[in-house]
Amino acid sequence: MSANKIEAPDAHISYADAIDYWTGVPATVDGVLGGFGHTTLPKTDVKGSIAFLRRISRLYPAFEESGKKLGSRGCDVGAGIGRVTRDVLSKFCSKIDLVEPVVPFANQIRIELERKNLLDKLGDVLQIGMQDFTPDPEKYWFIWCQWCLGQLKDAHLVEFLRRCKSGLQKDGLIFVKENNTSTLMDEFDNTDSSVTRADQSFRRLFDEAGLELLDAEVQQGLPQGLFPVRSYALRPKQDS
Ligand SMILES: C[S@@+](CC[C@H](N)C(=O)[O-])C[C@H]1O[C@@H](n2cnc3c(N)ncnc32)[C@H](O)[C@@H]1O
Repeated sequence: MSANKIEAPDAHISYADAIDYWTGVPATVDGVLGGFGHTTLPKTDVKGSIAFLRRISRLYPAFEESGKKLGSRGCDVGAGIGRVTRDVLSKFCSKIDLVEPVVPFANQIRIELERKNLLDKLGDVLQIGMQDFTPDPEKYWFIWCQWCLGQLKDAHLVEFLRRCKSGLQKDGLIFVKENNTSTLMDEFDNTDSSVTRADQSFRRLFDEAGLELLDAEVQQGLPQGLFPVRSYALRPKQDS
């Protein structure tokens, strides 16, 4: 009966608790990477992401052509202090918009890019949650979401991805790089009020959002004891 009903892991997510947690974390690489900033994680992650983007460009020439013909503006979602923009997206995009709701992180983005002489790549910093983000139509060559989608409830994630689809230029893609549980079950994490999703859950939610999975790859070489990390390349389903 209802007294025994087990709630889905994402039912426990509180957006306010998540913002409180992240606001108390130092605005550093170590902070956004949960204390793994001084391990091999950041370098391995960056190398893996660059290789994945290059591979997808090789395998899907329409994607590469789209960047050349229509422009190469990117969007970094749940951007933290701009680590992914600084180390990965700046190598591919002419300009990058960043979505990050936590004030000290959003303020740090400009400083991180300035240090690396990358201010010319900085587009808009949108200080909002992804649940409130609606990209302008057909604005982006690609949208990159890394280590942040667990902050959204399932239904909001599907809606968010649907809105992202409309924000893609022709032949643009959505990239997702996230932890996966090692089981078929999603797990709630009380620390930052997020869920870690099983690979199967992501695939189901992508499908619900009208996205076709082009490719997926497990990040190799991460420090021991972490969840598996998977990168996904997605495009709007042709019939949606
Ligand atoms: C683990 S950090 C990852 C940051 C960055 N993507 C990276 O890989 O360096 C998670 C990020 O998600 C952000 N975040 C939390 N809730 C969010 C929401 N509702 N919408 C967008 N970002 C959110 C946090 O503020 C934090 O910057």
